[in-house]
Order: sequence, then structure tokens, then C-alpha cells
Amino acid sequence: MKSLFVLAMMIALASCASTMNGHRMKAAQRKMLETRRLQQAGEWDAALAMSERMHSSVSKSITSAPRQKSSGGTMVDLQPLLAGWENGPFAELKTTLKKHDSKRSPAAFASLRQQCVNCHTVLGKTKVQVSAIP
Ligand code: HEC
Repeated sequence: MKSLFVLAMMIALASCASTMNGHRMKAAQRKMLETRRLQQAGEWDAALAMSERMHSSVSKSITSAPRQKSSGGTMVDLQPLLAGWENGPFAELKTTLKKHDSKRSPAAFASLRQQCVNCHTVLGKTKVQVSAIP
């Protein structure tokens, strides 16, 4: 009985973590679009702050469930993918925002978004739609 209860709790917690992560990812998406809006409005400092909030949503989502099963059935370690996103396009976007570089911003947002999509693709989450950058 006791082990059944523990098992039930674990399943409940696992599905709860997944729902949370879905919410966090949706929040990341909203913050990505909000960062872009602020950048286009020339509110560079606010855009930089919003980009940090986006980062926090992405990283919390991944660190709470760092290993996930892909649709193909293999376990995927998401941490290197997260690190790639952080050290690559996210770092580049922050540099662009710090420099108030409106010329390079569209490319920076596009590669950031592409790296969001790449992680979903690795997991086989082809149904996840990431909004286009306006
Ligand atoms: C390192 C991997 C990784 C990165 C990077 C990543 N995601 Fe995700 N994303 C996931 C995983 C895993 C899920 C499934 C979450 C869940 O429901 O358990 C997901 C789900 C989503 C969803 C669907 C949420 C839902 O429940 O409907 C959206 C939207 C999304 N991500 C947007 C983004 C955006 C925008 C970015 C970049 C700013 C991003 N993701 C970056 C792994 C990643």
C-alpha cells in the first residue's frame, strides 16, 4: 500500500512538473515577444531586463526536468542544449541589446528563436509552435 502511495505521488508530481514546465515555456514565449516589442520601441534597458526574465523561464523549465524522453524513445539530456542556447544566441541577443544595436537585433532574435525550435526538434516535439518574431 505504502509503495503504491509513493508511486501515485511520484506520478502526480511528475505530471505536475510537466504542466508547470509547459506554463514556463509559454511564459518564455510571451517574454521573448515582449523583449522584441520593447527593443523595437527603443526601450533597451527594459528589453534587456525582459530578456533575463525570458531566460529565467527557459532555464527553470529545463533544470526542473533536465532529462526527457524524446518521441523516438531515447532519453535526452537537455542541459547541453540549454547551455548552447544560453552561450550562443541568448548571449548574442544580450550583447545586441546592451549595444542598442537595432541593425543586428532582427538577426539576434531570429537565431534565438531558431535555437528554441532546435531543442523541441531534438525531442521530436514537432507540435510545439514557437511564435514568429514580428
Ligand atoms: C533546452 C531545450 C529547450 C529550449 C532551449 C526551449 N524549449 Fe520550449 N520546450 C522544451 C520542452 C522540454 C518542452 C515541453 C515542456 C513540457 O510541457 O513538459 C517545451 C515546450 C514549449 C512550448 C509548449 C508549451 C505548452 O505547454 O504548450 C512552447 C510554446 C515553448 N516550449 C517555447 C519555447 C521558446 C519560446 C523558447 C526559447 C525562448 C524555448 N521554448 C526554448 C524544451 C526547450
